[in-house]
Amino acid sequence: MSGRLIAVSNRVAIPRGGQAAGGLAVGVLAALQEYGGIWFGWDGKTTDSEPHDARLQHDGNITYATINLNAGEFDAYYNGFSNETLWPLFHFLLGFFRYNRHNFEAYLRVNALFARKLVPLLEADDILWIHDYHLIPLAAELRRAGVTQPIGFFLHVPFPSFDVLRALPVHEHLLRCLCSYDVVGFHTQRDLRSFQECIAQPQIGAQILSDGRVRAGDRTLRADVFPIGIEVDTCARLAVENAGKKPVERLRQSLLGRRMIMGVDRLDYSKGLPERFNAYERLLEHYPGNRGDVVLLQIAPPTRTGIRTYAEIREELERIAGHINGRFAEIDWVPVRYLNRGFDRGMLMALYREARVGLVTPVRDGMNLVAKEYVAAQDPDDPGVLVLSTLAGAAYELEQAVLINPYDTDGVAEGIQTALEMSLGERRERHAAMLEVLTRNDIQTWRTRFVDALSSVRGEPGP
Ligand code: G6P
Repeated sequence: MSGRLIAVSNRVAIPRGGQAAGGLAVGVLAALQEYGGIWFGWDGKTTDSEPHDARLQHDGNITYATINLNAGEFDAYYNGFSNETLWPLFHFLLGFFRYNRHNFEAYLRVNALFARKLVPLLEADDILWIHDYHLIPLAAELRRAGVTQPIGFFLHVPFPSFDVLRALPVHEHLLRCLCSYDVVGFHTQRDLRSFQECIAQPQIGAQILSDGRVRAGDRTLRADVFPIGIEVDTCARLAVENAGKKPVERLRQSLLGRRMIMGVDRLDYSKGLPERFNAYERLLEHYPGNRGDVVLLQIAPPTRTGIRTYAEIREELERIAGHINGRFAEIDWVPVRYLNRGFDRGMLMALYREARVGLVTPVRDGMNLVAKEYVAAQDPDDPGVLVLSTLAGAAYELEQAVLINPYDTDGVAEGIQTALEMSLGERRERHAAMLEVLTRNDIQTWRTRFVDALSSVRGEPGP
């Protein structure tokens, strides 16, 4: 690739004082380090007046360019349309779905603002990589401003089937916006197929060509699957390096040889946390041998606290955790340890390695990197077992996990029991098979394939 990479996302992960970034941030940062470029997005602050122009912060060959947002606009764009409309819709959770025109209009205005503030920073050779559902209209806005450089979009959440998407009154507008990109990427084949189904509807009228590309009006775009991966070796190294740290030692001592079942999730209703807690209660009911012998450690940092449904799920979980502890706790054993806070990534890896069972049971998830990181952090000689929802994108790759349906309380309890009883030989075999998948499709493969696809729009060979 000859030009710079311009990455755009709602949040920008500016590295701070040795703090290790995770997931998406790792992939984007590594790509920017390789090609040089700009990471553009919101600086996490709001203002009561007009947003300022992009503030630039240089670090080696990367420039972080951030803008603030007007408080009212931010509320309607981020809390409103992005997270009360698109988030539940794209996760097939229509019970949480809300729509109003005011929020949609603010969403379009904020996307137009992103375009206005970004255009002066662009150069002719750049390629642009836009991330996630907050910024679907950005390419259309950039094209309107005369930008002709290749623009790609990657969706980090699932893409719904047409029958779900059409609950959104402005779905046609968004589908047309997606057709303004040159490359559109999804985590799984299923997401890609849903997208193709949606744009082939008569009102959009796109044509899927024989080589898989899409013809929409006078544009041709490539829509494809790019499952995000992780830095496998780094996860394993962090797990080992942090194993001797105080909090991990304290955890080990407090367990007194009991087996730990562990979950780590943002406190979000798509993560299936109440369902998970109920399944754990069922495990203690149906398999009483586990009482006094297992501990569920659930780490769930609060997120999107400006939205009512997120406050409600927090209350619900506190109630269920209290109920389970009230029902089963003994003088020297508490079945659920529920922590409403985040942990440093290195520490998390070490905690994963201590857990005999990793529970990843979302009711819907684009990929879920916790599932992948849990596997990578295990000791290959004595690995823990991943219990994974079939409704997470990760289940398409990690077929050797114990796969469960999160809505099936008895089934999840059974899955956990299977994981707890699994022989060392079977644990090793399953772990080795999953590690092989993770290594073959790691974070490097993800970003290289995407940037490669974008570069070839210009007829350049890939990086
Ligand atoms: C999901 C989305 C990301 C988002 C993250 C955290 O993973 O796909 O785009 O950044 O959640 O959510 P937040 O609303 O805090 O940015």
